[in-house]
Amino acid sequence: MLQKIHHLGYAVEDLEAASRLYRERFGARLEEPEMVADQGVRAAMFRVGESRVELLEPTGPDTPVGRFLAKRGEGLHHVAFQVEDIEATLGELGRDGVELIDEEPRVGAGGTRMAFVHPRSMHGVLTELVERQD
Ligand code: CO
Repeated sequence: MLQKIHHLGYAVEDLEAASRLYRERFGARLEEPEMVADQGVRAAMFRVGESRVELLEPTGPDTPVGRFLAKRGEGLHHVAFQVEDIEATLGELGRDGVELIDEEPRVGAGGTRMAFVHPRSMHGVLTELVERQD
């Protein structure tokens, strides 16, 4: 079961410029940017109620977000849903033939356990599953 929208991931060209926009215009309190080497991004998060926005700047053109920016430009990159048990969710999806980018959970921004599901199986939306923390 999807518990809530955990965060929205935005692909941006310039993390500092995007952070400034949300900080100065909308009073967002941005967390310290974090390098997620595994995904080739620098990420900065801010809370919006129960959810967050994750600003993603690629570390280079030859990364998933770098290729996304080259092809589509800045914009919404993925939607992340919170689930209770990520292994169980991935197991069920895999058995049902849903195309997974990550068969096993990995560690994402903020130390979360997460996995991506292919947009081909999600009506065009790159979907991230994040296991509930706490
Ligand atoms: Co994300």
